[in-house]
Amino acid sequence: MSKRFYLTTAIDYVNGQPHIGHAYEKIVTDVLARAQRSRGREVFLLTGNDEHGQKVQQAAQAEGKSPQTYCDDLAVVWKSFVGKLGLSHDDYVRTTEARHWQVVQAILSQLHAAGHFYKAAYRGLYSTKEETFLTEKDRRADGTFDPAWGEVIELSEDNYYFRLAAHQGWLIEYIEAHPEFIYPDYRRNEVLGFLQNHVLEDLCISRPVARLNWGIPLPFDANFVTYVWFDALSNYVTIPAAHQDPLVLKALNLAGSPATPALELWPADIEVVGKDILKFHAVYWPIMLKVMGLPLPRQLVVHGWWQKEGQKMSKSTGNVVDPIAVIDSWGVDAFRYYLIRELEVGPDGNWTDVGFQARYNAELANGLGNLVNRSLSMLHRYRQGIIPKRSDELAADTARTTLAAQACLDQNELQAALVRIWTLVNRANQYVDQTAPFKLAKDPAQAPRLDEVLYNLAEACRILAVLLWPFLPGTAARIYAQLGLDTVPDRWASAAWGGLEPGRIIGPVVPLFPRRDLK
Ligand code: MSP
Repeated sequence: MSKRFYLTTAIDYVNGQPHIGHAYEKIVTDVLARAQRSRGREVFLLTGNDEHGQKVQQAAQAEGKSPQTYCDDLAVVWKSFVGKLGLSHDDYVRTTEARHWQVVQAILSQLHAAGHFYKAAYRGLYSTKEETFLTEKDRRADGTFDPAWGEVIELSEDNYYFRLAAHQGWLIEYIEAHPEFIYPDYRRNEVLGFLQNHVLEDLCISRPVARLNWGIPLPFDANFVTYVWFDALSNYVTIPAAHQDPLVLKALNLAGSPATPALELWPADIEVVGKDILKFHAVYWPIMLKVMGLPLPRQLVVHGWWQKEGQKMSKSTGNVVDPIAVIDSWGVDAFRYYLIRELEVGPDGNWTDVGFQARYNAELANGLGNLVNRSLSMLHRYRQGIIPKRSDELAADTARTTLAAQACLDQNELQAALVRIWTLVNRANQYVDQTAPFKLAKDPAQAPRLDEVLYNLAEACRILAVLLWPFLPGTAARIYAQLGLDTVPDRWASAAWGGLEPGRIIGPVVPLFPRRDLK
């Protein structure tokens, strides 16, 4: 058994509709996962829903449903959403599942027995909306709180706390010694700045049942449920435990189940998260793992936030992008392409409808789509769809693009990888214009030259399918099918020049991205 390349997304709050922020994070993770699969690695991608907490309890109440029924109904919506995105996930966690619950309780028991928690009374200002205590420092200049906190009340209650003081030093050293741990580096600097300039306060890991009962009960005190973030972060190891990951089972002293095949998953190779939840993943989560006796994830990939038309997305103003509507109208690959091509992983992005449509027409319809369409149509027209003998005029261009795209993918530079791939799209389109096969076809003496040109174009299309598979899996598969290939272009190694066999009959040609009038 060898360790799988393990990737995770944040798990989305189940209350609220899936939007492009959620879609983006999943697509980024999916591209990274598929890139690894394409390189021949065994991969495991985990995504899911965060279902406990006050907001869910309140939302369920407002709909007159039990929290479990409310979550079950919404899980259907979310699961169909990830299907729509073409996510190649291997498991889907719901934090209300017993397999998650039981392991969270095991973690809590173990940490409690080892003395990491203590009980204390706390009196303070509390944001009901964000389920967090605030301090005086959170007040604005006029003494009020940002409306984003919702209603802020005074609350006094007993709770369990996680001792963090002893962990600040090693965490700083770890982040300094592992520059690859947080990507991009400005997010790493942000975390280091925070850790170097603040004394870490102990983390409250419980909520009294009297105030909130929709959560995982503390195994050592039935008057409390687990703080939703402690519960949610644990999913990254509870699911490996459910898959009998030996490292996790051993650290948590859990008996394995011989009935389930064991997978080696932990440590995660990449955890993809948004910038807003960086502190949870770069501070609390590493400390939780350390006290569990587990290694830290190899890398946190931290992405920025999307706006629409330069404004924060908000349902109340109607300034939203409905990912499902875009996918239904334009296709999932057009959606995946825009999100990855428009925004580098790291900074904030801005969705514009005009920008989306412009990229669709220029880069997908006129760029890639036109290349494949005219190359294969000419092959049908001039050679009855039969691949001519090999030629290697575009071999150096494709090799250069393959290497460059691979280097970008290895560095999480997904946008740059697409830019590189499009240099090949453009080069091949330029090759059509330069070699003018439609003119060559008129002169029987040029038949050998026409053979060369048509082979080069078809083979460039094939290699493009291989390079595009992590990004646009459906389109890549369609290019292969149009080339008459009955395999999936999911092996990076097959981007080597010359894979297309002479004599093969290609399939019917169908436009990949029909041109659309701009609205
Ligand atoms: N449930 C927590 C995560 C727990 S992970 C152990 C949560 N859920 S969320 O639904 O609010 O957000 C899920 C992910 O979506 C986060 O990584 C967040 O950054 C991302 N996004 C939410 N809105 C976004 C945008 N507008 N743009 C890009 N990503 C955004 O936080």
